[in-house]
Amino acid sequence: MNGNPKKNFIGSLPQKDLLRLYSKHVSGPKVRFFKNIGWGVIPGEREGVKFKTLEGSKPGEPPLELYDCRSAGGVFNLGHRNPRIIQLLKDALDGGLDLGDHQILSEQRALLGKKIAELMPGDISKTTYGVSGGEAIDTAIKFSRAYTKRRGCISAIGGYHGHTGFALLTGDPSFKDPFLWNFPEFKQVPFGDADAMRKAITEDIACVILETIPATGGVLIAPKGYYTEVREICDDKGVMMICDEIQAGLGRTGYFWAIYGGMYPDEKVVPDFIVCGKGMSAGIYPLSTCSYKPFIERAVFKDDPFIHVSTTGGSDLGCAIAIEMLNLQSDPKFLDHVRKMGKLFGDGLKEIAKKNLDIIREARGRGLMWGLEFLNEQDSLLSMLSIIKEGVMLNYCGNKKDTLIIMPPLIVTEDQIEEIIERIKNGIINYKKIKKR
Ligand SMILES: Cc1ncc(COP(=O)(O)O)c(C=O)c1O
Repeated sequence: MNGNPKKNFIGSLPQKDLLRLYSKHVSGPKVRFFKNIGWGVIPGEREGVKFKTLEGSKPGEPPLELYDCRSAGGVFNLGHRNPRIIQLLKDALDGGLDLGDHQILSEQRALLGKKIAELMPGDISKTTYGVSGGEAIDTAIKFSRAYTKRRGCISAIGGYHGHTGFALLTGDPSFKDPFLWNFPEFKQVPFGDADAMRKAITEDIACVILETIPATGGVLIAPKGYYTEVREICDDKGVMMICDEIQAGLGRTGYFWAIYGGMYPDEKVVPDFIVCGKGMSAGIYPLSTCSYKPFIERAVFKDDPFIHVSTTGGSDLGCAIAIEMLNLQSDPKFLDHVRKMGKLFGDGLKEIAKKNLDIIREARGRGLMWGLEFLNEQDSLLSMLSIIKEGVMLNYCGNKKDTLIIMPPLIVTEDQIEEIIERIKNGIINYKKIKKR
């Protein structure tokens, strides 16, 4: 790895001391979980598609070096510490920017709003900024309620839109029941089933919210025509259609928006809202966006332009970085690269699935967003640990644990894809050897 890590930021204390501090002051259960699965390590140096841990799993062991095939769900689309983004941040600081004042107007928010509108499908041309994905999802649901004067929301079983107020209400019971957070007007239906969606929409439904490719739900691919039908249902019933492109958007599928050609090149659907988070940060500075059609702005803000604000959402620095990120990721050459790498990656994973039908059901995905579904949760979890041992960081889908989600940074090269595939293959072979014993 290149770069010159500053001693005081990375490796300031031995890993075992940091784990103790984490356990004592941040989260004991999390440290116990990672130690129990044999991965009690802390990330240290990071660059491009890889990162290193501070030390190995046991004191004195050398650091592990891993391909980051999580990309934190799309945060690291441009890899870790992308040099163009780092330079931009330095320039923006030297050039006079700071957080900005959310209550007054902002040059950077205006420029980013224009850039987003140019990239959005249809007439989606207004953007309200936030810090996290959950916040931007809350905004979309809030605005849908204000526009329709209805309360309810339909989401997909297994879907995930965040852990904040309205976002949490759209999720599975396991996330919200412990917090006594459940309202009957928030309902879930099976993903990909347009008839179930149609039946669930009653007079009090304000919006439908879907991840274009549900990630936590198992990297599910909707049948062709599903989104077109959802759009028609929403139009029929006067319901807002919200697309969560927090993981699948910004070029992940090889098309800029998953909902607009990324699932099926000839299926292009224009929802009422598109929400982005994670990758909007370019891995450097948090930012989320809730973009929508102009008629929604008129309904929400007509009586009070300050009815919705976010102090640190849409910071000047964050906006400047996002403009640079959008310039890079919307470049047709960049998207072409993602499509090529995606084809290579998908073919490799499908081949692995085909050769291991005794434990793998299928590989499915789009672009550089893939799911590997196993026959059961045990095979999936133990294969995951075995693949991590081979130096590829990935994880299981939180709401469908028989499936591993694999999302390398979009800047990944052909050689790296080949190496990642080889390592995944070896991880699975090693797991099967252990299973046989
Ligand atoms: C599809 C999707 N939507 C929303 C969120 C929530 O984003 P955040 O954690 O930034 O609130 C996530 C986070 O994992 C996500 O994957």
